[in-house]
Amino acid sequence: MQSQLLRLTVLLTFILPNLQNLSAKELENPRAITVIGTGYVGLVLGSCLAEIGHQVTCCDVDSRKISSLERGEIPIYEEGLEDLVHNNTIKNRLFFTTSLKNAVLESDIIFITVGTPETLSGEANLDYVFSAAQLIGENLNRTKTVFVKSTVPMGTIIKIKEVIQAHNSANVPFSIGYAPEFLREGTSVSDFMHPDRVVIGVENTETSQLFTEIVQPILDDGAKILTTSIASAEMIKYASNSFLAVKISFINEIADFCEKIGADVEEVALGMGLDKRIGQSFLKPGPGYGGSCFPKDTLAFLKSADKNSIHLSIIDAAVQSNNTRCEKILTRMEKTLGTFQGKKIAVLGLAFKENTDDVRESPSLKIIDYLVQKKAYVKSYDPIATQNALKFYPELNIARTLYEAFEDCDAIIVATPWNLFTQIDWQIVKQICRGSFVFDTRNILCPMEVKNAGFSYMGIGKKPLME
Ligand code: UGA
Repeated sequence: MQSQLLRLTVLLTFILPNLQNLSAKELENPRAITVIGTGYVGLVLGSCLAEIGHQVTCCDVDSRKISSLERGEIPIYEEGLEDLVHNNTIKNRLFFTTSLKNAVLESDIIFITVGTPETLSGEANLDYVFSAAQLIGENLNRTKTVFVKSTVPMGTIIKIKEVIQAHNSANVPFSIGYAPEFLREGTSVSDFMHPDRVVIGVENTETSQLFTEIVQPILDDGAKILTTSIASAEMIKYASNSFLAVKISFINEIADFCEKIGADVEEVALGMGLDKRIGQSFLKPGPGYGGSCFPKDTLAFLKSADKNSIHLSIIDAAVQSNNTRCEKILTRMEKTLGTFQGKKIAVLGLAFKENTDDVRESPSLKIIDYLVQKKAYVKSYDPIATQNALKFYPELNIARTLYEAFEDCDAIIVATPWNLFTQIDWQIVKQICRGSFVFDTRNILCPMEVKNAGFSYMGIGKKPLME
Protein backbone atom coordinates (compact mmCIF):
# COMPACT_ATOMS: atom_id res chain seq x y z
CA MET A 1 0.00 0.00 0.00
CA GLN A 2 2.74 2.37 1.04
CA SER A 3 4.74 1.76 -2.12
CA GLN A 4 1.57 2.20 -4.25
CA LEU A 5 1.06 5.58 -2.59
CA LEU A 6 4.68 6.45 -3.29
CA ARG A 7 4.26 5.53 -6.95
CA LEU A 8 1.10 7.67 -7.18
CA THR A 9 2.93 10.63 -5.61
CA VAL A 10 5.76 10.26 -8.14
CA LEU A 11 3.27 9.99 -11.04
CA LEU A 12 1.35 13.10 -9.99
CA THR A 13 4.44 15.11 -9.15
CA PHE A 14 6.83 14.33 -11.96
CA ILE A 15 5.33 12.43 -14.87
CA LEU A 16 1.88 13.84 -15.61
CA PRO A 17 2.90 17.54 -15.75
CA ASN A 18 5.61 16.63 -18.27
CA LEU A 19 3.14 15.03 -20.63
CA GLN A 20 0.92 18.11 -20.80
CA ASN A 21 1.30 21.10 -23.15
CA LEU A 22 4.05 19.68 -25.33
CA SER A 23 4.10 22.73 -27.57
CA ALA A 24 4.72 26.26 -26.46
CA LYS A 25 3.40 29.55 -27.84
CA GLU A 26 4.57 30.46 -31.36
CA LEU A 27 7.05 33.18 -32.14
CA GLU A 28 6.61 36.67 -33.62
CA ASN A 29 10.07 37.04 -35.19
CA PRO A 30 11.09 33.73 -36.82
CA ARG A 31 14.75 33.26 -37.78
CA ALA A 32 16.56 30.99 -40.23
CA ILE A 33 18.59 28.59 -38.10
CA THR A 34 21.04 25.82 -39.01
CA VAL A 35 21.58 22.91 -36.65
CA ILE A 36 24.73 20.82 -37.26
CA GLY A 37 24.28 17.25 -36.02
CA THR A 38 21.06 15.23 -35.89
CA GLY A 39 21.63 13.10 -32.78
CA TYR A 40 19.30 13.31 -29.78
CA VAL A 41 20.15 16.91 -29.00
CA GLY A 42 20.21 18.21 -32.59
CA LEU A 43 17.01 16.51 -33.69
CA VAL A 44 15.04 17.55 -30.63
CA LEU A 45 16.46 21.09 -30.71
CA GLY A 46 15.81 21.51 -34.45
CA SER A 47 12.25 20.16 -34.25
CA CYS A 48 11.39 22.23 -31.19
CA LEU A 49 12.85 25.44 -32.67
CA ALA A 50 10.72 24.79 -35.76
CA GLU A 51 7.69 24.11 -33.55
CA ILE A 52 8.03 27.54 -31.92
CA GLY A 53 8.16 29.13 -35.36
CA HIS A 54 11.72 29.23 -36.68
CA GLN A 55 12.84 28.07 -40.11
CA VAL A 56 15.26 25.27 -39.26
CA THR A 57 17.68 23.26 -41.39
CA CYS A 58 19.14 20.22 -39.64
CA CYS A 59 22.27 18.88 -41.27
CA ASP A 60 24.40 15.81 -40.81
CA VAL A 61 27.18 14.03 -42.69
CA ASP A 62 25.27 10.74 -42.31
CA SER A 63 23.36 10.60 -45.60
CA ARG A 64 21.33 7.51 -44.60
CA LYS A 65 20.06 9.28 -41.52
CA ILE A 66 19.15 12.40 -43.47
CA SER A 67 17.34 10.36 -46.16
CA SER A 68 15.26 8.57 -43.57
CA LEU A 69 14.47 11.84 -41.77
CA GLU A 70 13.35 13.30 -45.11
CA ARG A 71 10.99 10.33 -45.43
CA GLY A 72 9.68 11.14 -41.94
CA GLU A 73 11.40 8.18 -40.28
CA ILE A 74 12.81 9.08 -36.86
CA PRO A 75 16.00 7.20 -35.90
CA ILE A 76 15.26 7.33 -32.15
CA TYR A 77 12.30 6.49 -29.94
CA GLU A 78 11.33 9.74 -28.24
CA GLU A 79 7.85 10.70 -27.16
CA GLY A 80 6.33 13.49 -29.25
CA LEU A 81 9.31 13.80 -31.62
CA GLU A 82 7.81 12.04 -34.63
CA ASP A 83 4.76 14.35 -34.58
CA LEU A 84 6.98 17.44 -34.29
CA VAL A 85 9.14 16.39 -37.23
CA HIS A 86 6.10 15.49 -39.31
CA ASN A 87 4.09 18.66 -38.52
CA ASN A 88 6.98 21.05 -39.06
CA THR A 89 8.15 19.38 -42.25
CA ILE A 90 4.64 19.78 -43.66
CA LYS A 91 4.58 23.45 -42.58
CA ASN A 92 7.92 23.98 -44.42
CA ARG A 93 9.67 25.03 -41.22
CA LEU A 94 11.95 22.00 -40.86
CA PHE A 95 14.40 20.76 -43.48
CA PHE A 96 17.10 18.09 -43.55
CA THR A 97 20.27 18.15 -45.61
CA THR A 98 23.72 16.64 -45.97
CA SER A 99 24.91 19.85 -47.58
CA LEU A 100 26.48 21.34 -44.48
CA LYS A 101 28.26 24.02 -46.45
CA ASN A 102 25.07 25.45 -47.98
CA ALA A 103 23.25 25.24 -44.66
CA VAL A 104 26.02 27.31 -43.03
CA LEU A 105 26.18 29.81 -45.92
CA GLU A 106 22.44 30.43 -45.85
CA SER A 107 21.99 30.98 -42.13
CA ASP A 108 23.02 33.69 -39.66
CA ILE A 109 22.43 31.52 -36.63
CA ILE A 110 24.14 28.14 -36.29
CA PHE A 111 23.84 25.60 -33.50
CA ILE A 112 26.54 22.95 -33.07
CA THR A 113 24.99 19.80 -31.58
CA VAL A 114 27.40 17.09 -32.73
CA GLY A 115 28.42 14.28 -30.37
CA THR A 116 31.41 14.34 -28.02
CA PRO A 117 31.85 10.60 -27.43
CA GLU A 118 34.18 9.23 -24.77
CA THR A 119 37.74 8.44 -25.84
CA LEU A 120 39.62 5.42 -24.47
CA SER A 121 41.22 7.66 -21.85
CA GLY A 122 37.82 8.93 -20.64
CA GLU A 123 38.14 12.38 -22.18
CA ALA A 124 35.56 13.88 -24.53
CA ASN A 125 36.38 13.41 -28.21
CA LEU A 126 36.12 16.90 -29.70
CA ASP A 127 36.90 15.97 -33.33
CA TYR A 128 33.31 16.42 -34.55
CA VAL A 129 32.95 19.74 -32.72
CA PHE A 130 36.16 21.10 -34.23
CA SER A 131 35.21 19.84 -37.73
CA ALA A 132 31.92 21.74 -37.43
CA ALA A 133 33.87 24.82 -36.27
CA GLN A 134 36.23 24.55 -39.26
CA LEU A 135 33.29 24.25 -41.65
CA ILE A 136 31.69 27.37 -40.14
CA GLY A 137 34.97 29.30 -40.36
CA GLU A 138 35.43 28.35 -44.01
CA ASN A 139 31.93 29.49 -44.86
CA LEU A 140 31.61 32.75 -42.97
CA ASN A 141 30.14 34.73 -45.86
CA ARG A 142 28.49 37.27 -43.51
CA THR A 143 28.24 37.98 -39.78
CA LYS A 144 26.99 34.91 -37.93
CA THR A 145 26.34 33.77 -34.38
CA VAL A 146 27.34 30.27 -33.34
CA PHE A 147 25.70 28.60 -30.35
CA VAL A 148 27.27 25.39 -29.08
CA LYS A 149 24.98 22.80 -27.46
CA SER A 150 27.32 19.79 -27.50
CA THR A 151 28.57 18.87 -24.03
CA VAL A 152 32.18 20.03 -23.98
CA PRO A 153 34.86 20.25 -21.28
CA MET A 154 35.90 23.52 -19.69
CA GLY A 155 37.78 25.81 -22.03
CA THR A 156 36.49 24.19 -25.25
CA ILE A 157 34.22 27.03 -26.41
CA ILE A 158 37.17 29.40 -26.64
CA LYS A 159 39.07 26.73 -28.63
CA ILE A 160 36.05 26.38 -30.96
CA LYS A 161 36.16 30.15 -31.45
CA GLU A 162 39.86 29.91 -32.30
CA VAL A 163 39.23 27.14 -34.85
CA ILE A 164 36.48 29.20 -36.52
CA GLN A 165 38.76 32.24 -36.61
CA ALA A 166 41.70 30.19 -37.97
CA HIS A 167 39.57 29.31 -41.03
CA ASN A 168 37.90 32.72 -41.32
CA SER A 169 40.22 34.02 -44.04
CA ALA A 170 38.03 37.04 -44.85
CA ASN A 171 37.97 37.98 -41.15
CA VAL A 172 34.17 38.22 -41.05
CA PRO A 173 32.87 39.14 -37.57
CA PHE A 174 31.12 36.37 -35.65
CA SER A 175 30.12 35.71 -32.07
CA ILE A 176 29.84 32.54 -30.02
CA GLY A 177 27.72 31.36 -27.09
CA TYR A 178 27.43 28.17 -25.08
CA ALA A 179 23.89 26.96 -24.39
CA PRO A 180 24.23 23.78 -22.31
CA GLU A 181 21.57 21.17 -22.83
CA PHE A 182 19.55 19.74 -19.93
CA LEU A 183 17.15 17.47 -21.86
CA ARG A 184 16.53 13.96 -20.59
CA GLU A 185 16.04 11.16 -23.08
CA GLY A 186 12.46 9.94 -23.01
CA THR A 187 11.05 13.36 -22.03
CA SER A 188 13.23 15.63 -24.15
CA VAL A 189 10.47 17.33 -26.14
CA SER A 190 8.57 18.27 -23.02
CA ASP A 191 11.85 19.21 -21.27
CA PHE A 192 12.67 21.57 -24.15
CA MET A 193 9.27 23.23 -24.10
CA HIS A 194 9.06 23.48 -20.30
CA PRO A 195 12.59 23.66 -18.89
CA ASP A 196 13.42 24.50 -15.27
CA ARG A 197 15.99 26.92 -16.60
CA VAL A 198 17.75 28.00 -19.77
CA VAL A 199 21.45 28.86 -19.44
CA ILE A 200 23.42 30.89 -21.95
CA GLY A 201 27.14 31.58 -21.63
CA VAL A 202 28.31 34.55 -23.70
CA GLU A 203 31.04 37.11 -24.23
CA ASN A 204 28.70 40.05 -24.92
CA THR A 205 25.11 41.10 -24.29
CA GLU A 206 24.13 41.11 -28.01
CA THR A 207 24.68 37.33 -28.15
CA SER A 208 22.59 36.68 -25.04
CA GLN A 209 19.87 39.00 -26.35
CA LEU A 210 19.77 37.08 -29.63
CA PHE A 211 19.54 33.76 -27.80
CA THR A 212 16.78 35.12 -25.56
CA GLU A 213 14.86 36.25 -28.62
CA ILE A 214 15.22 32.79 -30.23
CA VAL A 215 13.77 30.95 -27.23
CA GLN A 216 11.28 33.68 -26.20
CA PRO A 217 8.12 31.50 -26.47
CA ILE A 218 9.63 29.10 -23.94
CA LEU A 219 10.49 31.94 -21.59
CA ASP A 220 6.95 33.35 -21.99
CA ASP A 221 5.79 29.96 -20.80
CA GLY A 222 7.57 30.44 -17.46
CA ALA A 223 11.17 29.21 -17.91
CA LYS A 224 13.93 31.23 -16.24
CA ILE A 225 16.97 32.27 -18.30
CA LEU A 226 20.37 32.72 -16.74
CA THR A 227 23.11 34.56 -18.64
CA THR A 228 26.64 33.75 -17.52
CA SER A 229 30.20 33.81 -18.74
CA ILE A 230 31.14 31.01 -21.13
CA ALA A 231 33.35 29.35 -18.49
CA SER A 232 30.49 29.30 -15.97
CA ALA A 233 28.05 27.84 -18.51
CA GLU A 234 30.56 25.06 -19.31
CA MET A 235 30.90 24.37 -15.60
CA ILE A 236 27.11 24.43 -14.99
CA LYS A 237 26.58 21.61 -17.51
CA TYR A 238 29.16 19.20 -16.09
CA ALA A 239 28.50 20.15 -12.48
CA SER A 240 24.74 19.57 -12.92
CA ASN A 241 25.12 16.11 -14.47
CA SER A 242 27.78 15.17 -11.93
CA PHE A 243 25.65 16.36 -9.02
CA LEU A 244 22.76 14.19 -10.20
CA ALA A 245 25.13 11.23 -10.60
CA VAL A 246 26.38 11.82 -7.05
CA LYS A 247 22.77 11.91 -5.80
CA ILE A 248 22.09 8.51 -7.40
CA SER A 249 25.27 6.89 -6.05
CA PHE A 250 24.48 8.41 -2.65
CA ILE A 251 20.99 6.90 -2.47
CA ASN A 252 22.32 3.57 -3.80
CA GLU A 253 24.74 3.35 -0.87
CA ILE A 254 22.02 4.44 1.57
CA ALA A 255 19.91 1.61 0.09
CA ASP A 256 22.67 -0.90 0.94
CA PHE A 257 22.68 0.39 4.51
CA CYS A 258 18.87 0.21 4.69
CA GLU A 259 18.98 -3.45 3.69
CA LYS A 260 21.43 -4.21 6.50
CA ILE A 261 19.38 -2.59 9.27
CA GLY A 262 15.85 -3.26 8.02
CA ALA A 263 14.96 0.27 6.93
CA ASP A 264 13.08 0.94 3.67
CA VAL A 265 14.97 3.20 1.27
CA GLU A 266 11.77 4.44 -0.40
CA GLU A 267 10.52 5.76 2.92
CA VAL A 268 13.96 7.20 3.60
CA ALA A 269 14.12 8.94 0.19
CA LEU A 270 10.63 10.34 0.68
CA GLY A 271 11.50 11.57 4.16
CA MET A 272 14.70 13.18 2.91
CA GLY A 273 13.18 14.61 -0.27
CA LEU A 274 10.33 16.37 1.52
CA ASP A 275 13.00 18.79 2.69
CA LYS A 276 12.95 21.32 -0.19
CA ARG A 277 16.72 21.73 0.12
CA ILE A 278 17.13 18.06 -0.85
CA GLY A 279 14.14 17.45 -3.18
CA GLN A 280 12.50 14.18 -4.26
CA SER A 281 14.09 13.68 -7.65
CA PHE A 282 17.09 11.47 -8.42
CA LEU A 283 16.75 9.60 -5.16
CA LYS A 284 15.60 6.35 -6.75
CA PRO A 285 18.05 3.56 -5.96
CA GLY A 286 18.77 0.96 -8.60
CA PRO A 287 21.47 -0.82 -10.57
CA GLY A 288 23.43 2.40 -11.08
CA TYR A 289 23.18 5.23 -13.58
CA GLY A 290 23.69 4.52 -17.27
CA GLY A 291 23.03 6.20 -20.59
CA SER A 292 25.11 8.31 -22.91
CA CYS A 293 25.58 11.19 -20.48
CA PHE A 294 26.27 10.56 -16.78
CA PRO A 295 28.96 7.85 -17.19
CA LYS A 296 30.73 9.82 -19.94
CA ASP A 297 30.30 13.29 -18.44
CA THR A 298 31.44 12.40 -14.92
CA LEU A 299 34.63 10.87 -16.36
CA ALA A 300 35.26 13.83 -18.67
CA PHE A 301 34.67 16.21 -15.73
CA LEU A 302 37.22 14.32 -13.60
CA LYS A 303 39.74 14.41 -16.45
CA SER A 304 39.16 18.10 -17.04
CA ALA A 305 39.62 18.81 -13.31
CA ASP A 306 42.78 16.67 -13.20
CA LYS A 307 44.27 18.76 -16.00
CA ASN A 308 43.70 21.78 -13.76
CA SER A 309 45.25 20.00 -10.75
CA ILE A 310 41.88 19.69 -9.01
CA HIS A 311 40.73 16.37 -7.57
CA LEU A 312 36.93 16.11 -7.52
CA SER A 313 36.93 13.44 -4.83
CA ILE A 314 33.14 13.32 -4.32
CA ILE A 315 32.46 12.78 -8.02
CA ASP A 316 35.31 10.27 -8.16
CA ALA A 317 33.68 8.33 -5.32
CA ALA A 318 30.29 8.42 -7.06
CA VAL A 319 31.88 7.01 -10.23
CA GLN A 320 33.64 4.22 -8.29
CA SER A 321 30.41 3.39 -6.51
CA ASN A 322 28.54 3.24 -9.81
CA ASN A 323 31.20 1.05 -11.43
CA THR A 324 30.70 -1.70 -8.86
CA ARG A 325 26.95 -1.25 -8.43
CA CYS A 326 25.64 -4.04 -10.70
CA GLU A 327 28.08 -6.59 -9.36
CA LYS A 328 27.20 -5.65 -5.79
CA ILE A 329 23.46 -6.12 -6.19
CA LEU A 330 23.88 -9.32 -8.20
CA THR A 331 26.16 -10.81 -5.55
CA ARG A 332 23.33 -10.32 -3.06
CA MET A 333 20.92 -12.02 -5.40
CA GLU A 334 23.34 -14.88 -6.05
CA LYS A 335 23.58 -15.54 -2.32
CA THR A 336 19.81 -15.91 -2.14
CA LEU A 337 19.61 -18.12 -5.24
CA GLY A 338 22.62 -20.28 -4.27
CA THR A 339 24.26 -20.03 -7.68
CA PHE A 340 23.61 -18.53 -11.10
CA GLN A 341 25.33 -21.42 -12.85
CA GLY A 342 22.90 -23.30 -15.07
CA LYS A 343 19.98 -21.15 -13.92
CA LYS A 344 17.58 -19.72 -16.44
CA ILE A 345 17.05 -16.02 -15.73
CA ALA A 346 14.51 -13.67 -17.33
CA VAL A 347 15.90 -10.13 -17.54
CA LEU A 348 13.17 -7.55 -18.09
CA GLY A 349 14.35 -4.43 -19.90
CA LEU A 350 17.40 -3.60 -22.01
CA ALA A 351 17.17 0.19 -22.28
CA PHE A 352 19.24 2.23 -19.81
CA LYS A 353 15.99 3.68 -18.45
CA GLU A 354 12.29 3.72 -19.32
CA ASN A 355 10.75 5.44 -22.38
CA THR A 356 13.85 5.27 -24.55
CA ASP A 357 15.35 2.77 -26.98
CA ASP A 358 18.88 3.81 -25.96
CA VAL A 359 21.02 1.00 -24.52
CA ARG A 360 24.30 2.89 -24.20
CA GLU A 361 25.92 2.08 -20.82
CA SER A 362 22.71 0.31 -19.89
CA PRO A 363 22.82 -1.37 -16.45
CA SER A 364 20.65 -4.13 -17.99
CA LEU A 365 23.45 -5.11 -20.35
CA LYS A 366 25.93 -5.12 -17.46
CA ILE A 367 23.56 -7.39 -15.53
CA ILE A 368 23.29 -9.75 -18.50
CA ASP A 369 27.07 -9.75 -18.94
CA TYR A 370 27.57 -10.72 -15.31
CA LEU A 371 24.97 -13.49 -15.48
CA VAL A 372 26.48 -14.91 -18.67
CA GLN A 373 29.95 -14.88 -17.06
CA LYS A 374 28.45 -16.84 -14.18
CA LYS A 375 27.14 -19.36 -16.74
CA ALA A 376 23.48 -18.53 -16.33
CA TYR A 377 21.14 -18.86 -19.29
CA VAL A 378 19.55 -15.43 -19.92
CA LYS A 379 16.41 -14.58 -21.83
CA SER A 380 15.52 -10.91 -22.03
CA TYR A 381 12.64 -8.75 -23.14
CA ASP A 382 12.30 -5.04 -23.85
CA PRO A 383 9.26 -3.35 -25.44
CA ILE A 384 11.35 -0.92 -27.54
CA ALA A 385 15.13 -1.29 -27.21
CA THR A 386 15.71 -4.82 -28.57
CA GLN A 387 17.07 -3.79 -31.98
CA ASN A 388 19.57 -1.38 -30.45
CA ALA A 389 20.64 -3.95 -27.86
CA LEU A 390 21.27 -6.54 -30.58
CA LYS A 391 23.67 -4.11 -32.30
CA PHE A 392 25.84 -4.09 -29.15
CA TYR A 393 25.16 -7.66 -28.13
CA PRO A 394 24.21 -9.80 -31.17
CA GLU A 395 24.15 -13.05 -29.18
CA LEU A 396 21.37 -11.85 -26.85
CA ASN A 397 18.58 -14.35 -26.41
CA ILE A 398 15.40 -12.29 -26.86
CA ALA A 399 11.87 -13.33 -26.00
CA ARG A 400 9.29 -12.35 -28.63
CA THR A 401 6.73 -11.45 -25.98
CA LEU A 402 6.99 -10.42 -22.35
CA TYR A 403 5.39 -13.60 -21.08
CA GLU A 404 7.61 -15.81 -23.27
CA ALA A 405 10.58 -14.52 -21.25
CA PHE A 406 9.19 -16.24 -18.14
CA GLU A 407 8.91 -19.72 -19.68
CA ASP A 408 10.70 -22.23 -17.44
CA CYS A 409 12.83 -19.54 -15.82
CA ASP A 410 14.31 -19.94 -12.34
CA ALA A 411 14.39 -16.24 -11.50
CA ILE A 412 13.23 -12.90 -12.84
CA ILE A 413 15.20 -9.65 -12.77
CA VAL A 414 13.51 -6.31 -13.48
CA ALA A 415 16.35 -4.21 -14.93
CA THR A 416 14.59 -1.27 -16.63
CA PRO A 417 11.66 0.56 -15.01
CA TRP A 418 9.23 0.29 -17.95
CA ASN A 419 5.66 0.96 -16.87
CA LEU A 420 4.64 -2.22 -18.74
CA PHE A 421 6.38 -4.32 -16.09
CA THR A 422 4.17 -2.88 -13.35
CA GLN A 423 1.18 -4.39 -15.15
CA ILE A 424 2.47 -7.98 -15.14
CA ASP A 425 -0.06 -10.55 -13.91
CA TRP A 426 2.10 -12.47 -11.43
CA GLN A 427 -0.51 -15.22 -11.01
CA ILE A 428 -0.07 -16.02 -14.72
CA VAL A 429 3.73 -15.76 -14.48
CA LYS A 430 3.71 -18.28 -11.63
CA GLN A 431 2.14 -20.84 -13.93
CA ILE A 432 4.70 -20.25 -16.68
CA CYS A 433 7.98 -20.13 -14.79
CA ARG A 434 9.85 -22.83 -12.90
CA GLY A 435 11.33 -20.88 -10.01
CA SER A 436 9.84 -18.44 -7.58
CA PHE A 437 12.28 -15.59 -7.28
CA VAL A 438 11.79 -11.98 -8.41
CA PHE A 439 14.55 -9.37 -8.10
CA ASP A 440 13.23 -5.87 -8.72
CA THR A 441 16.34 -3.71 -9.21
CA ARG A 442 14.16 -0.61 -9.79
CA ASN A 443 11.60 -1.00 -6.98
CA ILE A 444 8.73 -0.63 -9.44
CA LEU A 445 6.69 -3.72 -8.57
CA CYS A 446 4.18 -4.07 -5.77
CA PRO A 447 6.04 -6.48 -3.44
CA MET A 448 2.86 -7.90 -1.84
CA GLU A 449 1.28 -8.61 -5.22
CA VAL A 450 4.38 -10.54 -6.26
CA LYS A 451 4.57 -12.39 -2.94
CA ASN A 452 0.86 -13.23 -2.98
CA ALA A 453 1.36 -14.93 -6.34
CA GLY A 454 3.84 -17.29 -4.66
CA PHE A 455 7.17 -15.60 -5.31
CA SER A 456 10.00 -14.40 -3.10
CA TYR A 457 10.41 -10.68 -3.74
CA MET A 458 13.69 -8.85 -3.38
CA GLY A 459 13.92 -5.11 -4.08
CA ILE A 460 16.67 -2.56 -3.52
CA GLY A 461 17.11 -1.10 -0.06
CA LYS A 462 14.20 -2.90 1.53
CA LYS A 463 13.46 -6.13 3.39
CA PRO A 464 12.97 -9.09 1.07
CA LEU A 465 9.54 -10.77 1.20
CA MET A 466 10.09 -14.50 1.11
CA GLU A 467 7.39 -16.83 -0.23
C1 UGA B 1 20.81 13.26 -18.18
C2 UGA B 1 20.35 14.52 -17.40
O1 UGA B 1 19.28 14.16 -16.52
C3 UGA B 1 19.87 15.61 -18.36
O2 UGA B 1 19.53 16.79 -17.63
C4 UGA B 1 21.03 15.95 -19.33
O3 UGA B 1 20.63 16.91 -20.30
C5 UGA B 1 21.44 14.67 -20.07
O4 UGA B 1 21.84 13.67 -19.10
C6 UGA B 1 22.57 15.02 -20.98
O5 UGA B 1 23.63 15.38 -20.49
O6 UGA B 1 22.37 15.04 -22.21
P1 UGA B 1 19.59 11.19 -19.36
O7 UGA B 1 20.94 10.60 -19.51
O8 UGA B 1 18.66 11.20 -20.50
O9 UGA B 1 19.68 12.74 -18.86
O10 UGA B 1 18.86 10.35 -18.22
P2 UGA B 1 18.46 10.54 -16.69
O11 UGA B 1 16.99 10.58 -16.59
O12 UGA B 1 19.20 11.63 -16.06
O13 UGA B 1 18.96 9.15 -16.09
C7 UGA B 1 20.32 8.76 -16.11
C8 UGA B 1 20.50 7.43 -15.42
O14 UGA B 1 20.28 7.56 -14.01
C9 UGA B 1 19.54 6.33 -15.87
O15 UGA B 1 20.22 5.11 -15.95
C10 UGA B 1 18.48 6.29 -14.78
O16 UGA B 1 17.80 5.06 -14.67
C11 UGA B 1 19.35 6.57 -13.56
N1 UGA B 1 18.59 7.14 -12.41
C12 UGA B 1 17.97 8.33 -12.54
C13 UGA B 1 18.58 6.44 -11.21
O17 UGA B 1 19.16 5.35 -11.07
N2 UGA B 1 17.91 6.98 -10.15
C14 UGA B 1 17.27 8.17 -10.24
O18 UGA B 1 16.67 8.60 -9.22
C15 UGA B 1 17.29 8.86 -11.45
